[in-house]
Amino acid sequence: MKELFNDYVQSLETYIMIQIKMETARLAPELTAKNRAPISLAMGAPVEKPPQLVTDKIREYALADGMHTYTIVKGESYLLESIAQNMKKRTGVDFDSKSEICALIGSKEGIANLIRALINPKKEMKDRDIILIPDPGYASYKEMVKVSGGMSYGIPLTPENNYMPDLDEAMNNLEKDGYDKNKVKALIINYPNNPLGAICTKEYLQKTVDFCKKHKILLISDAAYIDLTFEGAPKAHSVFEIEGAKDVAVEFFSFSKPYSMTGWRIGWVCGNADAVGILGKLKSTIDTGIYKPIQKAAADILNSQEGDKYIVEANHRFERKQKIVVDGFKELGWPMDKINPPRATFYLWLPIPPKYKTSKEFTDAVLHKSGIVLVPGNGFGNNGEGWFRMSIVASEDDMKEVIRRLKEDGFYFE
Ligand SMILES: Cc1ncc(COP(=O)(O)O)c(C=O)c1O
Repeated sequence: MKELFNDYVQSLETYIMIQIKMETARLAPELTAKNRAPISLAMGAPVEKPPQLVTDKIREYALADGMHTYTIVKGESYLLESIAQNMKKRTGVDFDSKSEICALIGSKEGIANLIRALINPKKEMKDRDIILIPDPGYASYKEMVKVSGGMSYGIPLTPENNYMPDLDEAMNNLEKDGYDKNKVKALIINYPNNPLGAICTKEYLQKTVDFCKKHKILLISDAAYIDLTFEGAPKAHSVFEIEGAKDVAVEFFSFSKPYSMTGWRIGWVCGNADAVGILGKLKSTIDTGIYKPIQKAAADILNSQEGDKYIVEANHRFERKQKIVVDGFKELGWPMDKINPPRATFYLWLPIPPKYKTSKEFTDAVLHKSGIVLVPGNGFGNNGEGWFRMSIVASEDDMKEVIRRLKEDGFYFE
């Protein structure tokens, strides 16, 4: 039956996190038998419980009348108004809850559908619409573009450009590589960045807005980690702190990471009314909204003191755990003084030891010998080869156990 499916689906890779999950499940009995039960540091899913307010409210609302019905695709009005209030607090900008905000079944769903709405699928690579993406960057962007019949073009984020690449230079490189800049439909930015944890300045956001206005393309800002900054770190800005950003930009937010609500699938997009409207229309043909108790609980937590306190404490926890692993990697010989651990997100991005030829060779060795699940850097783009990502999401005890195993099993930086 495979031949019945379209070329774009045929070329799709199973999402890297699922590949890793399957391989880990296969190895689990063998690893457990040798006292190396898998510790997963692959997915960006914190183990902590969500805020008490959220669990209490979901329980309460689940039993209330009328909660079982279909919901408004773009989000129930109480959620959209709560989001508008949150955006006003973040940016000082007013958002019309009816036309400039849309609730999502997680930000991943929204980004994928927006990309699909932008691209006219084409078979030949040279004819394809282009989406500019960060490299390294969230592994799904590339596959979302591919399955929509477009082409992604990675813009290198490097220590040399301070993870804020020159966009005009990127456009010139795209032309030098033989692609047509008129086919570019959108630029995706993601700060704080997954997998690097890098934050960008407000000046850089201004440049991204100017660039998108100049080229008449959509700016897609993925702000999934915007609230995950450590105390004293530079602020992570919303693109809507830039005047006139609504003319060209949409921004994606998630309840998954700040409130540890990954499985409840809820997020939002806001900004340019044309883009938000088209996404809402597309969604109305393929999904039917989010379970009401989750929308209600999300609306309640968003502007609450309990929610804000939860985020501050979560960031303290991530920072504490980061210190455990950073100190551990130092003892294992990693050049941590040169690496500057990020002050945002819960990711650590490190070079593989020189004796390994590829990222995958290293992460496979660590999985097979120590039961520690990491992600090879090339999964985040070509620029990620030679690196690996660790999600600092397990318990403090598990993070200590990770370092203990790496030492015992001889994974030194050599
Ligand atoms: C950069 C980035 N954007 C979006 C998402 C998707 O988050 P969700 O769909 O849970 O809101 C993730 C998840 O890992 C991510 O890392």
